[in-house]
Amino acid sequence: MEKKNKILNIEKIHTYYGESHIIQGLSLHVDESEAVSILGRNGVGKTTTLRSVMGLTPPRSGSIAIDGRDTTKLPAHQVSKLGVAYVPAERHIFPGLNVEENLKLAARPGKSDQSWTLEKVYDQFPILSERIKQDGATLSGGEQQMLAIGRALISNPKIIILDEPSQGLSPLLVAAVTECIQNFCVNSGITLLVVEQNYRMALKVAGRHYLMGTKGQIVGMATTAELEEDPKIIRDHLSV
Ligand SMILES: Nc1ncnc2c1ncn2[C@@H]1O[C@H](COP(=O)(O)OP(=O)(O)OP(=O)(O)O)[C@@H](O)[C@H]1O
Ligand SMILES: [Mg+2]
Repeated sequence: MEKKNKILNIEKIHTYYGESHIIQGLSLHVDESEAVSILGRNGVGKTTTLRSVMGLTPPRSGSIAIDGRDTTKLPAHQVSKLGVAYVPAERHIFPGLNVEENLKLAARPGKSDQSWTLEKVYDQFPILSERIKQDGATLSGGEQQMLAIGRALISNPKIIILDEPSQGLSPLLVAAVTECIQNFCVNSGITLLVVEQNYRMALKVAGRHYLMGTKGQIVGMATTAELEEDPKIIRDHLSV
């Protein structure tokens, strides 16, 4: 059997904000080119987990490895240099810069002929190509989400980490963003780690799902097929 490469491996991390012990012994992994979601109620530590991986709130103990390299103590800019693109829930569009400038600032040359370019991003998100000169901060919520994802793609990362990509979007835009995420994962082989409250979207974009209980503890793991067959798993773990 082919051995899969764990492109992201988190082992027993403990993460704090000051004295608050938020993540208490979380372990999970994502294989190369795999799409994985973390599902969990409000406040359990999903965003903190992503911030731990990115080096924005590094864990106090435990370890994180990206593509075999220990990144536990690396600051965010170095994690990003290793090819990890993070799209936080609040998107962080640079105000005062138009759509194209936002994209160009993030652009990094890719290694393959599958690389993401301005042209490819506009192709994927026609809405952005119609607003090239518009100030990024004046885009609608959905357009900003597309710009944020476009910016992640054009950095030609190995791993994309998305925090609640469906947040604040109309059902129509959720469908558009879902389709885009499916496309880039399948077509570019980019590894995906996504946090979603909208579990229907999570089931569409990811193949494997970690269920997070309180304090960042993983209380279950299931494939999309398993969750579709037995929706009770989600209800038991995630309903209030
Ligand atoms: N900067 C901070 N300082 C102190 N506590 C924080 C900070 N950020 C988050 N927390 C706390 O850490 C816990 C986990 O927060 P986190 O944002 O990781 O949850 P989440 O699972 O992403 O929730 P949501 O679904 O609402 O986004 C919460 O109790 C939150 O109040
Ligand atoms: Mg969150």
